[in-house]
Amino acid sequence: MTLYPKIYVAGHRGMVGRAIVRQLLAQGHLVERIVTRTHAELDLTNQAAVNAFFAEEKPDQVYLAAAKVGGIHANNTYPAEFIYQNLMMQANVIDAAFRNGVQKLLFLGSSCIYPKLAPQPMREDALLTGTLEATNEPYALATIAGIKLCESYNRQYGQSHGVDYRSVMPTNLYGPGDNYHPENSHVIPALIRRFHEAKVSQAPSVTIWGTGTPRREFLYVDDMAAASVHVMNLPKALHEQHTQPMLSHINVGCGEDVTILEVAQAVARTVDYTGQILTDPAKPDGTPRKLMDSSRLNALGWKPRVGLDTGLQAAYRDYLMKYATQD
Ligand SMILES: NC(=O)c1ccc[n+]([C@@H]2O[C@H](COP(=O)([O-])OP(=O)(O)OC[C@H]3O[C@@H](n4cnc5c(N)ncnc54)[C@H](OP(=O)(O)O)[C@@H]3O)[C@@H](O)[C@H]2O)c1
Repeated sequence: MTLYPKIYVAGHRGMVGRAIVRQLLAQGHLVERIVTRTHAELDLTNQAAVNAFFAEEKPDQVYLAAAKVGGIHANNTYPAEFIYQNLMMQANVIDAAFRNGVQKLLFLGSSCIYPKLAPQPMREDALLTGTLEATNEPYALATIAGIKLCESYNRQYGQSHGVDYRSVMPTNLYGPGDNYHPENSHVIPALIRRFHEAKVSQAPSVTIWGTGTPRREFLYVDDMAAASVHVMNLPKALHEQHTQPMLSHINVGCGEDVTILEVAQAVARTVDYTGQILTDPAKPDGTPRKLMDSSRLNALGWKPRVGLDTGLQAAYRDYLMKYATQD
């Protein structure tokens, strides 16, 4: 009998799924014990296909890092796709996992589950205490349903079937595998692209949106992957000691936030852009601060390892490998 569990990483081509596979391999898991399927091979919104896949592969553990994700524009334009596809993927994977004897599953969500006006830093118990941000409410509700699916299966089948499904909610992530699309990317990849292009074209200045004063938290994706594997592997008694049956999700952040201007300066340093950084106070700033309280995870023995400057260098190398030839 092999000592290595058979692990299915759903969404292994995404930024987070890729990092989880990297992390498992770095920790010594055998590549042949990691099961993956591309979206084209297995559409996770298709219940029959998901059931057939689980019946065939019978994994021991599941990391659920597949999701339909996007920025404000995509969330606003395709709200039906966001809520429907994410609900379906989660319901199909979690139920098929249960029906095929999977005892350990980790569901990945995001900080958008918290109310728009949640006290900062946001603690896990802020969940369901207020109105969500309107732009991504459908996505957030689907994610909350994912947490509640895990909790409900634990409550109903934990004793009888040994089901132990956990959830982690990361802050903003960046790193290799990110999306650098000009209109549809998150803050850090968008800044990397803009500063790189400004350097190449020798532009004298780069203007960032808003006043530059809002504070945000950023975590390197490999730290997120390490946290995911850490939470998955925590002894059950320890996990239960730090969570509650109906408040079980765990925040994953670095515990520190920086201003948007500071991030822009850090990206400019990384890219070696020496022009001016200007702000545009006429553009909206968004919420003044968004920081997660990660003390639950810290108490469970995990801390991030990669600082912003080191992480940005790795992210920029990734960007260059993908896009340098297009310049
Ligand atoms: N990136 C961040 O900053 C961030 C921050 C916090 C939380 N998260 C969370 O982390 C998770 C993963 O995010 P990510 O950034 O890695 O996203 P991503 O790069 O877009 O990856 C998502 C993956 O899911 C796959 N997928 C989507 N729909 C599918 C379907 N119907 N069937 C099968 N596969 C499907 C995608 O495949 P295709 O591309 O082929 O469709 C892709 O490989 C999400 O839950 C997200 O909320 C991400």
